[in-house]
Amino acid sequence: MEFQKNILVTGGAGFIGSHVLRRLVNNYPTYKVVNLDALTYAGNLSNLRDIEAAPNYLFEKGNICDAKLVMEIFSKHHIDAVIHLAAESHVDRSISNPTEFIMTNIIGTVNLLNAAKACWGKEIEDKCFYHISTDEVYGSLGQEGLFTEKTPYDPRSPYSSSKASSDHIVRSYFHTYNLPVKLSNCSNNYGANQFPEKLIPLIINNIKNEKPLPVYGEGLNVRDWLWVEDHASAIDTVFHNGKIGETYNIGGLNEWKNIDLVHMICDQMDEKLAQKKGMSRSLITFVKDRAGHDLRYAIDASKIENDLGWKPSINFEQGLSLTIDWYLNNESWLNDVTSGEYKKYYSNQYVNR
Ligand code: NAD
Ligand code: DAU
Repeated sequence: MEFQKNILVTGGAGFIGSHVLRRLVNNYPTYKVVNLDALTYAGNLSNLRDIEAAPNYLFEKGNICDAKLVMEIFSKHHIDAVIHLAAESHVDRSISNPTEFIMTNIIGTVNLLNAAKACWGKEIEDKCFYHISTDEVYGSLGQEGLFTEKTPYDPRSPYSSSKASSDHIVRSYFHTYNLPVKLSNCSNNYGANQFPEKLIPLIINNIKNEKPLPVYGEGLNVRDWLWVEDHASAIDTVFHNGKIGETYNIGGLNEWKNIDLVHMICDQMDEKLAQKKGMSRSLITFVKDRAGHDLRYAIDASKIENDLGWKPSINFEQGLSLTIDWYLNNESWLNDVTSGEYKKYYSNQYVNR
């Protein structure tokens, strides 16, 4: 079959990537969607079981740090568009091992940009290089204010500085080589298939296993949470309707102090597990703070709302309830990803906390 567009999605076996891929494969049968993923600890093909046999889906196992391989994939599949999600994404891991973040998030991005530039040349009509980034590039807010697209960059962790660096390089390929790029910077995502090293699935998994719930510092740091399927719909919107050269902030206007969020998960879990109210809260343990822990992130998403008509579809209580149900109903997924390497990571990460 002749496809209308060949799209390369990087990091499609990860948390957000798998939701983006599912949406593209199911909603756009005339697109061929190629998933390039190295299957690191965070990549899991079982996230994609329901679409793996679709006629418009293809998986390529490979590392974006391998420039030759990236070039081969571009020419083999006649790639017209890239949605670039592959990254090392966990702040705590970036504190213990920054080099991998520099390699994947910066060098990997440059390899993809070079392949797009070389393969597309001057034929850039209908081409698009869409780079998925984070609100963490803007640094940390005080009690007031929101990040807009004009907020100066001020990244503070090896993770956020590697993402900031890749954002700058993507923009430089637009200004210098006229490469048709788009970017978006999103707040914290939550939902099904998130690796349980991140706060929400970690707390759910620990309550399930009656383990301590580690809250960094006093739990006063604030994050702005967005349901992952709403992020996927925003990415779809920017990909199809966003302007070349533009950046869009994506967020849920849904700020929570970590401790309040953990309380809410505890209370929902007590209800869903039909256990005594307060049981889960009794597991909360305040532990040593994250080094350089950013106090507050919050996104002003008015540009994407006003220019492209995107808004989150559900409120946080609903999203959190759906998310908890997913983890409770997908025990084998949780057990698989928390065996082996995860156990080692967990004991190192929380040993002195
Ligand atoms: P994730 O860690 O769940 O998944 C990352 C995926 O990339 C995995 O499938 C992994 O195997 C793959 N990958 C890693 N290194 C690779 C390499 N060198 N070559 C090829 N594939 C590689 O990440 P996520 O949470 O789904 O985040 C996806 C993107 O969205 C990232 O760019 C992240 O910076 C950004 N983002 C995440 C959030 C969030 O809350 N999770 C918020 C805003 C932006
Ligand atoms: O803001 C967007 C970013 O959100 C993304 O770019 C990152 O890829 C994603 O990992 C996420 O980063 P955070 O560091 O905010 O997410 P994390 O789930 O690791 O932590 C959320 C908050 O919870 C943060 O303030 C640290 C705190 N925390 C985290 C863990 C793992 C705890 O208190 N205890 C924990 O055990």
